[in-house]
Amino acid sequence: MFIHWGLYAQLGRQEWVMNRERIPVDEYEKLADTWKPKPMAARDWAKLAKEAGCRYMVMTTKHHEGFCLFDSELTDYNAAKCGPGRDLVAEYVEAAREQDLRIGFYYSLMDWHHPDGARCAKDEDARRRFVDYTHGLVRELCTNYGKLDIMWYDMNWPLDVEGWESEKMNAMVRELQPEIIINNRSGLPEDFGTPEQHITAEEGNRMWEACMTTNDSWGYTPIDKNWKTAGEVVGMLRQVAAGGGNLLLNIGPTPEGDVPPETAAIFQQVGKWLAKYGPTIYDATDPMPQEYLTTGAFTRKGQTIYFHCNRWPGKELAIGGLRNEVLAARFFDGKQIEFTQQADRLVLHSLPAEAPDPLATVIELEVSGEPRQELGAGCVLLDEI
Ligand code: GLC
Repeated sequence: MFIHWGLYAQLGRQEWVMNRERIPVDEYEKLADTWKPKPMAARDWAKLAKEAGCRYMVMTTKHHEGFCLFDSELTDYNAAKCGPGRDLVAEYVEAAREQDLRIGFYYSLMDWHHPDGARCAKDEDARRRFVDYTHGLVRELCTNYGKLDIMWYDMNWPLDVEGWESEKMNAMVRELQPEIIINNRSGLPEDFGTPEQHITAEEGNRMWEACMTTNDSWGYTPIDKNWKTAGEVVGMLRQVAAGGGNLLLNIGPTPEGDVPPETAAIFQQVGKWLAKYGPTIYDATDPMPQEYLTTGAFTRKGQTIYFHCNRWPGKELAIGGLRNEVLAARFFDGKQIEFTQQADRLVLHSLPAEAPDPLATVIELEVSGEPRQELGAGCVLLDEI
């Protein structure tokens, strides 16, 4: 679960509102005093995350607007010293720990509020001050909240790796948090890639995590009604598992800290599905060549392949191009499925007329050999399966 929360939630027009509407700093700053989130809102997020089958959370500790959701000795522009009157990062960490979820901190290097945030690109004194400030805040984050699992940087505008002194900064992070993993947005590749709003595996066996929204916005935006369906999210999970990655699915809480009901419903429905089919996602991340099919797609664990059928065709389901002998076919509850296999055409018979699970029904196939599905464009049965 990704959480985008900050002053911008009060305006309700995404987290880039300060930049997109050219709101002057002194006007935007007033949002720091009017923000009065309810106590321990994070507890509801963590419960929802757990219910949804998430294993970790990543919260914005400071977004591009520059407002720190944590108490700091380096700036008063922070949640403890302004409107909220509390350290919201501490609340988040407490809530995540209560649910036994791993903890990630999102931190935007870009800062629209700090006077040196843009000037640092052209003025060495400003750069020195701003980099010291940045490393100082990162140090506070890595020191004051116990064990962290993920450092999730964002937006390294306007400096480059040398300018940010990213190597030094990340060495400090690892020294303070020896088991942490770090994303690739401080300009260095570090531990994992972060495809955003698309699901694409990283080259070279690198770890990766796709971050996605449930509508089209990260920050709370009630005028954005373009909600995804739970079925689409289940499809994303299948796709990230097949590519050996993770999914970081966003919530954009209201200023009070409530999760929009449409988002909560998606998380809950996906959670119900995962409670049943979790093993076909979490543990099924072995690679397998496969091609597009109308009716679904695969994940794999060793010799077991899981066909996630999201468009149920009725009593018979045919899969072309599977180049392995199928030894057994069954529903995920263990019920056997009759099948015939003629060369690379597999047909499952006597299925229910209606989809057993509307989000995606998983059919488990035991196969021999290295699992592989390959169709090509021709239309001849391939005997050499
Ligand atoms: C982009 C956006 C930012 C959002 C992030 C999430 O970098 O600038 O608003 O937080 O993506 O990955």
